[in-house]
Amino acid sequence: MSKSSPSFTCTACGAAHKKWQGRCDACGAWNTIVEEAPLSAGPKSLGAKGRTIPLTDLATEEDPPPRASSGIDELDRVLGGGLVPASAILVGGDPGIGKSTLLLQAAASFARTGLKILYISGEEAAAQVRMRAQRLGLQDAPVGLGAETNLRDILTTLDAERPALAIIDSIQTMWLDTVEAAPGSVSQVRAAAHELVTFAKKRGVAVVLVGHVTKEGQIAGPRVVEHMVDTVLYFEGERGHQFRILRAVKNRFGPADEIGVFEMTGNGLAQVTNPSALFLSDRDRPAPGSAVFAGIEGTRPVLTEIQALVAPSTLGTPRRTVVGLDSGRLSTILAVLEARCGIPFTGLDVFLNVAGGLRVNEPAADLAVAAALLSAREDVAIPPDMVLFGEISLSGALRPVGQTENRLKEASKLGFQQATLPTGSKTAGGTDMRLREMPDLTAFVGEMFGAG
Ligand code: TYD
Ligand code: MG
Repeated sequence: MSKSSPSFTCTACGAAHKKWQGRCDACGAWNTIVEEAPLSAGPKSLGAKGRTIPLTDLATEEDPPPRASSGIDELDRVLGGGLVPASAILVGGDPGIGKSTLLLQAAASFARTGLKILYISGEEAAAQVRMRAQRLGLQDAPVGLGAETNLRDILTTLDAERPALAIIDSIQTMWLDTVEAAPGSVSQVRAAAHELVTFAKKRGVAVVLVGHVTKEGQIAGPRVVEHMVDTVLYFEGERGHQFRILRAVKNRFGPADEIGVFEMTGNGLAQVTNPSALFLSDRDRPAPGSAVFAGIEGTRPVLTEIQALVAPSTLGTPRRTVVGLDSGRLSTILAVLEARCGIPFTGLDVFLNVAGGLRVNEPAADLAVAAALLSAREDVAIPPDMVLFGEISLSGALRPVGQTENRLKEASKLGFQQATLPTGSKTAGGTDMRLREMPDLTAFVGEMFGAG
């Protein structure tokens, strides 16, 4: 290693730094930079000749690899239609969110289809995993169970057994004896993931790596692993809610942003096949501050309820509390409402929430957010049979969003009768819903709440 080689790494994003500093320049996280042992000395000099690698062309006669279905539709969907052989998948999420539960269920389900599955637990003893399996009613599934953290032994076992899929729970507990660092450190996690991914490709064994993320990024975030794997799935959900969302944030074999919805029950995770019905609360009575957003998650439409509460503030700087949406987006919408429509929120606390624990990232939610805010502020309910969607630009204009037809179809299916959407949306005329097309936010405010 030359002297200038960085030996400090951010545990949140994996960026390398030459010296210790309080804040990572790459991701902005505080107190996440730790000293690391150098990864590998590498070749002494590149002057020495390597061997030439064989090159092929892009044409192939082979069919695309058959995907293995897990028997859990919501999981198959997120994987892009089933498990691709020899692929590497990272499943990340907060501790306690249900990763081990989901993967044990998936392992059992795959095993019952006749695939050879190994589940290697580095966190729990075999007896604990068996207890969980019993609780989930999976004790008779033919899953090979191992409790081990030494990666050399694990790789030897995988090589001997050659399963179709190996689940490593979790990557943070694995250690290589060739790396001088504690398990869970960035160098160990990176080296272990690299070994496993390389093994997967060479030997045709699919691997699932479980990774914990904490909001503080205290343990080596699986972020460093994201670049190495084919597919990154995040398991999300609020601890207090029973709903869990498995989201594909990267997928080399399918659409990204696809979601699978699960419910945590006393007998493990159950699939939720109609998420829209679940994310909508009881909608018989009109309630001020509530607006239904017709969104798209991955390839499928999902209706969610956006809830807002606006109350006089006792604080010098009023509160802006957001759950399930980007807080920067809320600030932008509040600013547009004030500047373009003359509706200020100064001196008012604003609370904004997506019901059910879903995270909404689409800009198409802007209009529903604005509607919920206005409805709460004016104490006027939005008709309970109305959905809204549309992006708000800084000028206050409403911009059409993609997949208008799918959004309307889902809303109509769930019994909604009217939709507010931007002028110029491509509806293709095939809906029985009453459409209220709005060119801008001012027109919307005028129509819904009187002249503002
Ligand atoms: P777990 O899968 O251990 O989480 P992770 O591997 O992501 O850390 O999930 C643990 C939580 O799930 C725990 O709080 C208990 C709950 N749980 C249930 O509610 N029902 C069940 O059937 C199981 C197995 C767990
Ligand atoms: Mg676990």
